[in-house]
Amino acid sequence: MGGFAHSVCRRGLFAYIVCTAWKSTGGVAFFAPRREKPNACYLHPPSLPVVCRVFSTPLRAAHLLENMLGAFRARRGAVIFDDLRAIQLRCGFLPQAELQGLSQRTQTPLYQIHSVASFYPHFHLLPPPKAEVRVCADMSCHLNGACELRADLERRFANSRPEDVQIRDVSCLGRCDHAPAISINDHIFTDVTAAHAELIARRAIQGNAIHEPHPEHPRIACKADPYGESEKYGVVRKLTQSKGWEAVLAQLKAAELKGMGGAGFPTSMKWDLVRQQPDPVKYVVCNADESEPGTIKDRFIMTNLPHLLIEGMIISGLVTGAKRGILYIRHEYHLQEEILGAEIRRCYGQGLLGKGLLGSDMDFDLEVFVSPGGYICGEESALIEALEGHRAEPRNKPPFPGQIGLWQKPTVINNVETFINVPQILARGVDWFVSQGAGGSRGLKFVAVSGHVTHPGIFEVPMGVPIGDIILNHAGGLRSGRQLKAFAPSGPSSGYLPASMADVRLDFKALAEAGSMLGSGAIVVCDDTTCMLDMALNAVRFYRNESCGKCVPCRVGSQKMADMVVRWTQGGVPETQYRADLALLAELSEAMSLTSICGLGQIAPAPIQSVLKHFRTEVDAHVLHGQCPSGICFTPAARAGEAQRVGIRP
Ligand SMILES: Cc1cc2nc3c(=O)[nH]c(=O)nc-3n(C[C@H](O)[C@H](O)[C@H](O)COP(=O)(O)O)c2cc1C
Ligand code: SF4
Ligand code: FES
Repeated sequence: MGGFAHSVCRRGLFAYIVCTAWKSTGGVAFFAPRREKPNACYLHPPSLPVVCRVFSTPLRAAHLLENMLGAFRARRGAVIFDDLRAIQLRCGFLPQAELQGLSQRTQTPLYQIHSVASFYPHFHLLPPPKAEVRVCADMSCHLNGACELRADLERRFANSRPEDVQIRDVSCLGRCDHAPAISINDHIFTDVTAAHAELIARRAIQGNAIHEPHPEHPRIACKADPYGESEKYGVVRKLTQSKGWEAVLAQLKAAELKGMGGAGFPTSMKWDLVRQQPDPVKYVVCNADESEPGTIKDRFIMTNLPHLLIEGMIISGLVTGAKRGILYIRHEYHLQEEILGAEIRRCYGQGLLGKGLLGSDMDFDLEVFVSPGGYICGEESALIEALEGHRAEPRNKPPFPGQIGLWQKPTVINNVETFINVPQILARGVDWFVSQGAGGSRGLKFVAVSGHVTHPGIFEVPMGVPIGDIILNHAGGLRSGRQLKAFAPSGPSSGYLPASMADVRLDFKALAEAGSMLGSGAIVVCDDTTCMLDMALNAVRFYRNESCGKCVPCRVGSQKMADMVVRWTQGGVPETQYRADLALLAELSEAMSLTSICGLGQIAPAPIQSVLKHFRTEVDAHVLHGQCPSGICFTPAARAGEAQRVGIRP
């Protein structure tokens, strides 16, 4: 069915439902258009007769109502999180009585509120202790002593009451360049020692306020910035005059700009799809959720190039016809939230955002939405669900967000780095963009390097340089003169490659050919003291913990995979059992890759599969001979720690 016919039928059906519901309920309409989701909402009874009298045809009434409903729901999505946050701020957690009160006030069924509150790690359903200490357990922190830190803290607080202090794991806090990182009562501390963490926790136990340090750093000048010290937003200024939308798409296509959030989808195609949708209401969403271990490049970009990000989003709105943008940012990025908030206010002040951009007839509004937490929120359709105020469970695709996205409207979703590439290309031209890459690749890339390197951090490099060069020349090489053993080109989702492959180029195609992926450019480096089976377990656990649980292959498969790898790290598995395990693992991996709803379940087998491929003798030594060549897995400390690690979600 063509887009227009589809739209007419949809509206007709919707109008029919509206009118029928109105008749049957005497004015109180209950809407759940297109799918059964906990997003039903109630309209004030008197509004319907008025709407239907003014708009005589069901189609026109439906059109208006659909738009009203979009705006109403948009507010509602934010409202549920605002309400929950306000209760948590006041009470320290979400007491049942408060949730019941919220349910009555907003006329939202309690189970819906509970289903949201219990999903996100940011919300507490039970009273927290005075000091809630969470130690990041993921790759970069794991490589930098997180297990030992946690064990030490547990010893130091062994005699404390649970209502005073609790020590738990937490998923990546977005500070992988300053590992190990911890959070105490949601304040993040980096490069911590056990003594330092104990001091802060004891302060919290005594009821003293604790503060997250925000060291002042001057903005770092980047090659990617076409403006430097001169006037910013030059591309938007020109575009509001020229209105050359087709030319923008042609340039992005010629530049072959791909998405930098992981999947590498061509940006011009995505924008063109949204542009072609006949719906007058569309959205632009920036995905700044950035929660995969090792991934911190967007944090750097938002700190140092906020104007380029905002300009990229405005351009996207102008080209696709979207009048509203939402910047979805992870809740651990307080500083970046402030920086972006200040830049957005500046833009409104200068007429670069809002009604009639720079005196033109075009509008674009932009707001920041702070994520209630969880890696899965970065998956684009889960992110949309979160924006709508639901549990962040990915949708089945198709339809894609470009067709039916936020509030059922066509939606552009791009990564932070993708957006900042757009003004670069438009300001300096396609030839400049092409010339910035190395070895036939295009453009510049921000990469994060963490793990066992001398200078972990975020670096701006030409796309296409060998990864080994980045590790050596930018991150200062291996720490303490050790040798490179392995590296993950992009956090757990890329799996691990051996040192012998360090000359692989930082490029979509080159990394895919190496059996890995460019992903988000989060290089995690392991030296020769690292146990690769232990690293595989760390990554498998991350996926198990972060699985949203919506589909069986991922929910059950990730747990089975974690159980199996734990058993392997404990040794003593008979050879026949090991062979059976390997066959089961292959089958499980295939089933998860083929049948999981989203990328999380599809990619979860990558770390263990890569370790089996490149470090098989090390795995065999554990399983068949009860030996960890790196001396990590069979220590009493490792076994004691194991018992604690049953998951992170509350
Ligand atoms: C589990 C999961 C987490 C993701 N997290 C992010 C993220 O934090 N940031 C991001 O830009 N993309 C993330 N993605 C990819 C998005 O789904 C989507 O492809 C991306 O935002 C599209 O933008 P791009 O085309 O500019 O890359 C994630 C995907 C999955 C499956
Ligand atoms: S693959 Fe995993 S994370 Fe994705 S929808 Fe299924 S259960 Fe949720
Ligand atoms: S902060 Fe620990 S892995 Fe990212």
